[in-house]
Amino acid sequence: MHFSKVPALGALAVALTLTAGVSQAALTRAPYLQRVGPNMALVAFRLDANCTPEVHYGTQGATNQVARSADSGRIQAVTLKGLTPGTDYTYEVLACGARTPTERFTTAPVPGTRHVHFAAVGDFGTGGTDERQVAASMLSSKLRPDLFLALGDNAYESGTEAEIQNNLFAPLAAVLSEVPFFPVPGNHEYVTNQAQPYLDNFYLPTSSSGSQRYYSFDWGNVHFVGLDSNCAVGLASKDRCTMEAQRAWLEQDLAASKADWKIVYFHHPPWSSGAHGSQLVMRHQFGPLFEKYGVDLVLTGHDHNYERSRPMLGDDVAPSGKRGITYLVVGGGGATLRPFDGAAPAWSVLRNATDHGYLDVDVTEGTLTAKVLTPAGKLIDSFNLTKQLGPAPQPSPGTSETPTEPVPQPPVAQAPGTETPGTLQPPAETPSTPGDSTGLPGDAPSSAGCSTFPSEIFLPLAALSLAEFLRRRRD
Ligand SMILES: [Fe+2]
Repeated sequence: MHFSKVPALGALAVALTLTAGVSQAALTRAPYLQRVGPNMALVAFRLDANCTPEVHYGTQGATNQVARSADSGRIQAVTLKGLTPGTDYTYEVLACGARTPTERFTTAPVPGTRHVHFAAVGDFGTGGTDERQVAASMLSSKLRPDLFLALGDNAYESGTEAEIQNNLFAPLAAVLSEVPFFPVPGNHEYVTNQAQPYLDNFYLPTSSSGSQRYYSFDWGNVHFVGLDSNCAVGLASKDRCTMEAQRAWLEQDLAASKADWKIVYFHHPPWSSGAHGSQLVMRHQFGPLFEKYGVDLVLTGHDHNYERSRPMLGDDVAPSGKRGITYLVVGGGGATLRPFDGAAPAWSVLRNATDHGYLDVDVTEGTLTAKVLTPAGKLIDSFNLTKQLGPAPQPSPGTSETPTEPVPQPPVAQAPGTETPGTLQPPAETPSTPGDSTGLPGDAPSSAGCSTFPSEIFLPLAALSLAEFLRRRRD
C-alpha cells in the first residue's frame, strides 16, 4: 500500500491510495481536529463511500491505539478518549481500505498550566492564494500554535456547504489536521440558512452554552469565549438566537471563570476605523460585561485590515490608572484588503491595510505577547499585556511532576570520640593549597612528610611484625 499526503485543493474528492487497485476509496475531506482538550480529541472527516473507519493513534510516533467509529456513514467524527494532557500524538485514518498520511497534534495541557500559544485571524474564506499563504505560515515549526481561533467570514460568499468545503476545509487542510480549530461565524456564514451549514460542519465545545453558536473553553490558564455577534446585530432570527440570551449566558460564564486570562472573540468589532466601522451594539451590550469580569483581550474581524485600540473603557480611552481592554481587528486573513478612509482616530494605536497576516499570541505566566505576522514573516505589530498572577496551582493527583534534584541532607551531629570508623575528618589546621584538591570524595590534601601508605594496611603489617618477633622469641 502506498500513502500520499492529502493535497489542500479545492476539489471535493481527496483521493487516497488504493489497496491493490481493486477498490475505490477516498476522503472527500481530510481529517480535522475538534474539541481537543487535556484528555480527548475528536477527529472528523468525510468519506465518499460507506464503511466503518478507524483512527490509529499513539505517542512518540506510534499509532498503536485504535478508536473505531460507531457508524458507517460518510460524515465521520471519531473521538479519542483517555489522552494524556500536554502530549504530542500522531494519528492516521483507515477507511474503506485507504489510509491517510500520519498527522500529529498536541493535547491541551493540565488545566491552569501557565503557557498557551494560539493563532487567530478572520475574513480568510476565499479559497485564494492569500488565504493559503497565511494558513501555511502558521505551520512554520517555530510558530506552530496550540490552537487556532477563526474570527468569522470563514467561507465566502454565502457559507454554503460547497463554499465551506472549497474555501475553508480545502485551503486550510494542512493546518486543520494538526491544529485544533475553534471558529465563530461571520455575517457571510449567515447568508445561508443563518449559518446552518457552518453549524453542521463543526463540533464545538457546547457544554456550557448548549449552543455551537457561542461557547467557551479553557486551555491552560486562559479562558476563551467565542461569541456569535450575528445574534446581536440583527442577522439572526429570534428562533435561532437572541442577544439577551447570549448576554445572560456570557455573564454567568465569565463570573464563573477563575482563569488567569480571559480572551473573547467574535466577528463584529466594537472598535474599528475600517470600512464597516465600530459595531456599537457589541460595544454597549457586551463591553460592560468584559469590563466587569476582567476580560483582557477582545479579538474580532469583519473589516479587512488590522487595527489595535488603546486600552478602552466605556466609549473612550481608559484614563490613566484605570484598567482598559485592548480590542483588535484581525481581518487580514485572505479577503481583499480595504484601505482606511481618513486619519486614524485617537483611540487607534496602529492599523494596517496593506498586508495580509494573522495574530500569534504567547501567554506565559503573567505576560501575554501578541504579534501580527505576514506570510513572509514581516512583523506588522507587537505588544505585551502583563498582570500579577497568584500562586501557581498545585498539580492534581496523578499528574506527572518535574523530577527534582536530591535535597542535600544536613550532617548528623555526633558526640566527640564517636566518629564512624573510616569516616574522613577534615584535616585540622591544615590549610589547603588552591589547585591541590581534585574535588573528589576523600581527596583531602596530605601533610608534608606524612606517609601515604594506607593506615589500614600499615597497622596489620606492624602488628604482624610484632607477632613474628614474639614468635621468634618463643622459638
Ligand atoms: Fe464580515
